[in-house]
Amino acid sequence: MRPSLCLLLLPVIACASEPPKPVYSTAETMPHDELVARHAPPGKPHHAHGGGHHGHGGPLVHRFEKAEDWAKEFDDPARDAWQKPAEVVAAMRLSPGLVVADIGAGTGYFEPHLSRAVGPSGKVLALDLEADMVRYLRERAVKEKLDNVEARQVGLSDPGLGQGTVDRVLIVDTWHHIDGRKDYAAKIKDGLKPGGLLVIVDFTMEATKGPPKEHRITPEAMIAELEAVGLKGEAIAETLPDQYIVVAKKP
Ligand SMILES: C[S@@+](CC[C@H](N)C(=O)[O-])C[C@H]1O[C@@H](n2cnc3c(N)ncnc32)[C@H](O)[C@@H]1O
Repeated sequence: MRPSLCLLLLPVIACASEPPKPVYSTAETMPHDELVARHAPPGKPHHAHGGGHHGHGGPLVHRFEKAEDWAKEFDDPARDAWQKPAEVVAAMRLSPGLVVADIGAGTGYFEPHLSRAVGPSGKVLALDLEADMVRYLRERAVKEKLDNVEARQVGLSDPGLGQGTVDRVLIVDTWHHIDGRKDYAAKIKDGLKPGGLLVIVDFTMEATKGPPKEHRITPEAMIAELEAVGLKGEAIAETLPDQYIVVAKKP
């Protein structure tokens, strides 16, 4: 995510909507309870836990509606220069036939790359919280003939992976949005096959783009969150100018 760009875009988006939507003070940032209430199963309110959403490293609660608007930013061809998708995909050590879940897939920036890397015998699960992102992902898969990509809407606190069913999980610019990250990491671990990898890409503290600094996570803190559930993580060598890559393995 590049909230700095998001923040620039949002006044335009907000101006376009008539009558005005409820006002979320910064960049459609919705009060946490309201976001949770929208996504929690009826009668089962979900309360904030883990990461501490007001403190350093706490999740940035943010809506990503209107996929077409976000696509202008997420799929801006200029992104390739700093996102370096080939390098990210190389870090995932993909091969034909693997099953990959892209959690917080957004508008599907990574889907063509993942689809190609796992081939027709593989599968890409493009997962997102937002219904409109999932609608967009489905349409994109048809339009771009990404036959091995399946888009699914997932809950706020559960990626919905079947036990031991995926070889790789990719999370780009999304980990800092997740609340209760330790519990979430445990669910990812359950979904991975033994030896499977979780690859997380997020913004460095020094990056000039990215979420507000108080919501950023250091690679060390991320690795500690993953190791708390038994995923062995390391920040790998890379050349991304604004982000780091953590690769964690399920034993
Ligand atoms: C900044 S965008 C990144 C999109 C994509 N990974 C990319 O790099 O272009 C974050 C995405 O994560 C989604 N998201 C946020 N929290 C989520 C959660 N708990 N589970 C699944 N998706 C989530 C948002 O709806 C949004 O589409």
